[in-house]
Amino acid sequence: MTDNSRNPRRTFAIISHPDAGKTTLTEKLLLKGGAIHLAGEVKARGDNRRARSDWMKIEQQRGISVTSSVMTFERNGITFNLLDTPGHEDFSEDTYRTLTAVDSAIMVIDAASGIESQTLKLFEVCRLRSVPIITFVNKVDREGRDPFELLDEVADKLALDVCPMSWPTGMGGQFEGIYDLTRNQLHQPEGDSKNYDGKAQQFTGLDDPKLEEVLSPEALTRLTEEGELAQGGYASFDLEAYRNGDLTPVFFGSALKQFGVEELIEAIAEHAPPPRPQPAEPDPIQPDSSDVTGFVFKIQANMDPQHRDRIAFMRLCSGEFKRGMKLIPSALGKPIAIHSPILFFAQDREIADTALPGDIIGIPNHGTLRVGDTLSEKNQVRITGLPNFAPEILRRVILKDPTQTKKLRKALDDLSEEGVVQVFYPEIGANWIIGVVGQLQLDVLISRLSAEYKVEASLEAAPFETARWINGSDEILNAFANINQTSLARDRDDNLVFLAKSAWDVGYQEERNPEITFSATRER
Ligand code: G4P
Repeated sequence: MTDNSRNPRRTFAIISHPDAGKTTLTEKLLLKGGAIHLAGEVKARGDNRRARSDWMKIEQQRGISVTSSVMTFERNGITFNLLDTPGHEDFSEDTYRTLTAVDSAIMVIDAASGIESQTLKLFEVCRLRSVPIITFVNKVDREGRDPFELLDEVADKLALDVCPMSWPTGMGGQFEGIYDLTRNQLHQPEGDSKNYDGKAQQFTGLDDPKLEEVLSPEALTRLTEEGELAQGGYASFDLEAYRNGDLTPVFFGSALKQFGVEELIEAIAEHAPPPRPQPAEPDPIQPDSSDVTGFVFKIQANMDPQHRDRIAFMRLCSGEFKRGMKLIPSALGKPIAIHSPILFFAQDREIADTALPGDIIGIPNHGTLRVGDTLSEKNQVRITGLPNFAPEILRRVILKDPTQTKKLRKALDDLSEEGVVQVFYPEIGANWIIGVVGQLQLDVLISRLSAEYKVEASLEAAPFETARWINGSDEILNAFANINQTSLARDRDDNLVFLAKSAWDVGYQEERNPEITFSATRER
């Protein structure tokens, strides 16, 4: 058995709509956690020197910023692993898969905008896996919406119980501080910067007469009236409901001015779950099992076209991983020795040689490892639940030079392995079809084909809008194929896919073919 209680881990991600403040909050969390430094800056001594130079070599030579993918810090004996989810407007399956590697998430919403489209999409992914969410209403130093309205929006749109943990005395021009409803502490802006400097003032409750001394009469009235309503009108904090993903504690704050950041770290430390059992076949993997198991949730390819190396990011699910260990990737079936894993570490720990459940290990490889691979000592388990999502945009790939077909296939296979795009090979016709979840992936595809594979290609509209993986008996599928040959394709793993002209088309075919299942996601 691995003793996780002596080495507590909190592995989490931040989900948000662009501009809500994820980057700012990440920075402030790392600052508070004492982890603002880069891997290369860690002072290594003695035997660790070699490991350190391995790390730096990988970062420098390959031009990969692996550091920002996993940010680790340690506080009061707890190791926090913060996994970065790509922050651009479009998102890829990468983002989704990163969320399969965390045990909890912080959802950042802009106080002026409330729940936005991408927050909602990412939240849905968390819900699929019952990932517990802590909500952070950011930017209260600016004019924002009424806090009650925001709470109700979270409750309604996400169908969650909400529990306000803190309360702003007002927003924008009326902002005079944040009141911590559980500890009865007030955090106020200081000096010209109006930042919070970490000095909390203690009170006995919202009715403490001493509050008069530090707040304007308007702010005091607002805080006492609203604070009491907030405490009385919403669910109280319930650890089990939160961990089941049914309730979200809500903190108000300003990442920019450092309000609410400390409370978030404390909430993650106190309430967020330690490494959870991982869904797997034949049985879920228990984090306290002594067998080392993990799964690859992300592959980051070399940004430098001279090298073809990739880093596979593995989330450790059980056991104690040691540098040099041999593990069997499920797709390969034979062991590989992991000699130079990249282990992410906190400020005071020097290069670690071991990792525990909840930790992320970067494994350099030349394409041996694929997203979704389980790595284990005995090769007896398979992680489940790493989804492929039905693409929302489909395009035909047109080669400028038709003699490059083989190269293109290799490139598309590689890039689909990485999760940049999905590739569909039509049953009839020569032009391969690629599918993406967001527009940005198309640009990434074309530029990487050219830069890394020297393949010049363009994309043109495909007569399809979406795709569904189809399943059924051979007989039923054959009959379906006879009629719909031109709409059928195979994915990279030879699964049958129905390419639909529209969402309506999907519904129509579902109705006509009740014995076939049309799936918008496919587990790897
Ligand atoms: P993102 O990663 O979620 O996309 O958001 P990011 O942190 O980059 O923040 C988006 C903008 O919102 C930035 O301003 C940032 O400074 C601002 N911001 C973040 N948190 C707060 C907050 O608590 N209060 C206020 N008032 N602003 C906040 P920008 O002007 O777009 O960029 P910059 O020039 O400031 O970097």
